[in-house]
Amino acid sequence: MFKAVLFDAYGTLLDVDAAAAQLARTGRFPPLQEYWPELAAIWRSRQLNYTWLRSLSRSYKPFWEITSDALDYAMAALGLTDTDMREALLHLYRELAPYEDATIALEAVAAKGLPAAVLSNGNHEMLHTAFTAAGLMDRLDTLLSVEDVGIFKPAPEVYQLGLARYSARPEEILFVSSNGWDACAASQFGFRTIWANRVNMPTERLPKPPHHIVRDLTAIGQYL
Ligand code: LAC
Repeated sequence: MFKAVLFDAYGTLLDVDAAAAQLARTGRFPPLQEYWPELAAIWRSRQLNYTWLRSLSRSYKPFWEITSDALDYAMAALGLTDTDMREALLHLYRELAPYEDATIALEAVAAKGLPAAVLSNGNHEMLHTAFTAAGLMDRLDTLLSVEDVGIFKPAPEVYQLGLARYSARPEEILFVSSNGWDACAASQFGFRTIWANRVNMPTERLPKPPHHIVRDLTAIGQYL
């Protein structure tokens, strides 16, 4: 029934908190031991806010630059000024650790004989670097990036990239995201969707809910 399974990248296959958590564990920057959860949370929320604001104001720039801008904001908000810390965080973000269940999910898709791909806000270069470092490239058919349409999720042009790649109708694509708003937007576009609600968030009050809600990616095999 499905022609392909598309996965969101950041927060879904790749752990967006891993950079701050890993650097805190090294003990290199003592303030991070206290501040890393807050830093990671502000960094992620600004990063997403900037994608939406830049889409609305038609001022696209690559997600990597937005990620740096958001880190600068987050560090300033917490009074952190160490430029070595900034460089170390960005370095780790380029090679974010995958979640443990990412491989399980990609294996489940392969077992059904379906192509698995990424559909992400990330620009091509950062996606390629991250998924190569994560060792997942050979399990992925392709990396689809918003860079090709110059606007971020949840613009419909982004989800359209999946249809074009697989010559599919919307309902022939299964889309998996741990970002609730992304799963809702993909449902609105017409994809079948799974929301991996990793941190037990309430459902988003948006026009279309996800079709399925799971705790993590280990469960997706049953929906293929
Ligand atoms: C992405 C963001 C939404 O990878 O995490 O597209």
